[in-house]
Amino acid sequence: MPAAGDLPADRTIVLVGLMGAGKSCIGRRLAARLGLPFRDADAEIERAAGCSIEDIFELHGEAAFRKGENRVICRLLDGAPHVLATGGGAFMDPDTRAAIGARAVSVWLRADLELMLKRTGRRNNRPLLKRGDPRKILSALIAERYPVYADADLAVDSVDGPPEVTVERVLAALRDRAAAQDSAPDPAAVPGRAEGAEA
Ligand code: S3P
Repeated sequence: MPAAGDLPADRTIVLVGLMGAGKSCIGRRLAARLGLPFRDADAEIERAAGCSIEDIFELHGEAAFRKGENRVICRLLDGAPHVLATGGGAFMDPDTRAAIGARAVSVWLRADLELMLKRTGRRNNRPLLKRGDPRKILSALIAERYPVYADADLAVDSVDGPPEVTVERVLAALRDRAAAQDSAPDPAAVPGRAEGAEA
């Protein structure tokens, strides 16, 4: 297993993607590999609200949940680098997306419909999936959200099977990104582009 210590750990890594893509499961293992703390935005929202996400939706509505979600994620992004698993709707909020873009590296965990149905079917705790047929709801969310998730810095396929396979893929994508950034020309070294140079 290649070491992950060669990766810069100076920025928070934010996992985005639909319900059942494996954000928490992969995030926890990724954090262990990188030697970073792991945070789960949904769990932090529940802690801050003192009740479950289902109760927040039920008692206060989705809009209130989204506001709380933005607040909690911005607070977490202000802290030390860590791996952060976000709820499936978080990256859809333009303010949350901008905060993630400014302060973190975002990784879209992309999974296919059947896999997400299988995983989300294990627990009946997601308010959005109780609004009707989960297959139809997840299909509609794929159409709506995948074009926005595609704005993440990296996209990695989350596969069925041992989580370590997907974790390795995320690590490889992070390594490739770090290598590309290392080999990118330093703008200050390009003739005519140095600071103070005439345009
Ligand atoms: C939501 C996803 C959930 C949770 C809430 C809303 C969404 O998180 O934040 O039920 O809008 O997709 P997971 O993606 O971790 O299931």
